[in-house]
Amino acid sequence: MSTRMLSISDSQVRIYRDGEELALKAARLFARLADQYVVGSGRFTVALAGGSTPRAMFKLLAASPFIETVPWESIYFFWGDERTVPPDHPDSNYGMARETLFSKAPVPEENIFRIPAEMEDHDAAAEHYAARVMQFFLTGPGASRTMTAPLVNMPRFDLVLLGMGPDGHTASLFPATTALEVSDRVAVANWVEKFNTWRITLTAPAINNARNITFVAGGADKTETLKNVLEGEYQPDLYPSQLIRPGNGTLLWMVDETAAKLLSAK
Ligand code: 6PG
Repeated sequence: MSTRMLSISDSQVRIYRDGEELALKAARLFARLADQYVVGSGRFTVALAGGSTPRAMFKLLAASPFIETVPWESIYFFWGDERTVPPDHPDSNYGMARETLFSKAPVPEENIFRIPAEMEDHDAAAEHYAARVMQFFLTGPGASRTMTAPLVNMPRFDLVLLGMGPDGHTASLFPATTALEVSDRVAVANWVEKFNTWRITLTAPAINNARNITFVAGGADKTETLKNVLEGEYQPDLYPSQLIRPGNGTLLWMVDETAAKLLSAK
């Protein structure tokens, strides 16, 4: 079955048969962008999504042909968000990436910028992460291209990978939470009442300054929300994924047929 393509508002939507094809095509996109940026500028900077969807994609990247062909030593890894747990906790987004990908791919430790979300002081954790991100983009290996960024006080990731929750959240930008309003910081601690927990998350402006933003979302629990996010009224407090609009970059939704079932075919 060929991939269905939609263009909804200014988002490109690619619809794949099922979760398996979705993960494979997401892995191929990652590899293609990695090659493009490493060839073009010697490095590839990516902020990973958490949750369960990326697991299948990371496992594919950690196996042939990707493990042999992706320029791992020139990729710099960040996260869009993290749970306030230790890095070896089952809920850790970093822990999932280490288990599925970094335990196999030859990524130098110094290329991995984990969010220190286990810190007791959650604001300090967000500030520490934001400072490390900006140090990388302003003075480190990412520096030479940052000054061309639309917002020089924000990172300019080559790729931000995102998931979408059934409630329309992305990263840890949850409905009706204070992080949705933050426009002057790279990362913040965000209290999430529904989970009775703190999360550390990139802010929408930090995500929107990226060159490429890609959502990867599948499954029946996303169907109605995807319809509302892509085709419904603009209500970002209810559907924070609607906040994601790159200022000067691409926005791609990679979804499966189940999640896309209610989308208007165009
Ligand atoms: C997290 C993620 C979060 C995730 C969505 C979708 O820390 O949980 O960053 O934003 O992408 O909740 O999660 P699933 O992929 O598990 O549906």
